[in-house]
Amino acid sequence: MGDTTVASASAFIKWVGGKQALASSLSAHFPKFSGRYFEPFLGGASVFFELNPKRAVLTDSNSWLIDTYIAIRNDWAKVATHLDSFENTKDNYLAVRKINPESLDLARRAAQFVFLNKTCFRGLFRVNQKGEFNVPYGAYDRRYYNPQNLALVSDRLQTAEIRTGDFEDGIAGLEEEDFIYFDPPYYKLGGYSDFNRYTSTQFRAKDHVRLAAVCNELSSRGILWAVSNSDTTFVRELFSSFRFIPISARREINLKSQDRAVGELLIVNF
Ligand SMILES: C[S@@+](CC[C@H](N)C(=O)[O-])C[C@H]1O[C@@H](n2cnc3c(N)ncnc32)[C@H](O)[C@@H]1O
Repeated sequence: MGDTTVASASAFIKWVGGKQALASSLSAHFPKFSGRYFEPFLGGASVFFELNPKRAVLTDSNSWLIDTYIAIRNDWAKVATHLDSFENTKDNYLAVRKINPESLDLARRAAQFVFLNKTCFRGLFRVNQKGEFNVPYGAYDRRYYNPQNLALVSDRLQTAEIRTGDFEDGIAGLEEEDFIYFDPPYYKLGGYSDFNRYTSTQFRAKDHVRLAAVCNELSSRGILWAVSNSDTTFVRELFSSFRFIPISARREINLKSQDRAVGELLIVNF
């Protein structure tokens, strides 16, 4: 008998707040659902890959990231061909970083995103007010991508609807049998964190309040959801009528020591 095991796709970028190490323990808490899986703070998509749902609606406000998913879904091999042409030197990194992604076709723009992500300092994504990528070179001597994984990622994305936008756009069309996992940039003790800058706009306390209001509204419609966030008084107060599942702490890149002691919560309405 042949091997019927199908290899699973995994995240192909390094992403701050990425859930790769926690994806299986988080998804073990998810309920059974017969509809679509919604993930409106997609980032590196590690939970989506772990869960491997039949149908999904995936959203992030970072349009360059979302374009990268679309390019890989449409033609991963074309993205790979571009990736093969990059040279991992500081000079080349700085030259590529200067190129406006909007001036490139979709596959080349995606390759530039993956190349910069894998060679920049700690895989950070940070842009200035003009939207220009400004993370310094990281000098990592490693492959930018794994072709087998990119092919699997492309395969997994074929049935997914992929959207660029705010999380509220990402939940449009939700129906009762769907399930939604929210993984926003975490609320940070001490407020503003420069490394929390995934896009030229910040996710602030008022956005956490907006997310909690959306969750309340979904609950009243009988839609099941789970939210990840920091285990802080602010977050516990916002979601006080729901169930908290403490998630064991992990080491995070680039957190200040005051943040490192903060645990994480999975908040659920089921
Ligand atoms: C903690 S990361 C998600 C990590 C992801 N679960 C993973 O495993 O890689 C949060 C994501 O939210 C996105 N984001 C920030 N503000 C947003 C907003 N208002 N609406 C939708 N996405 C947003 C960021 O671009 C980032 O990719």
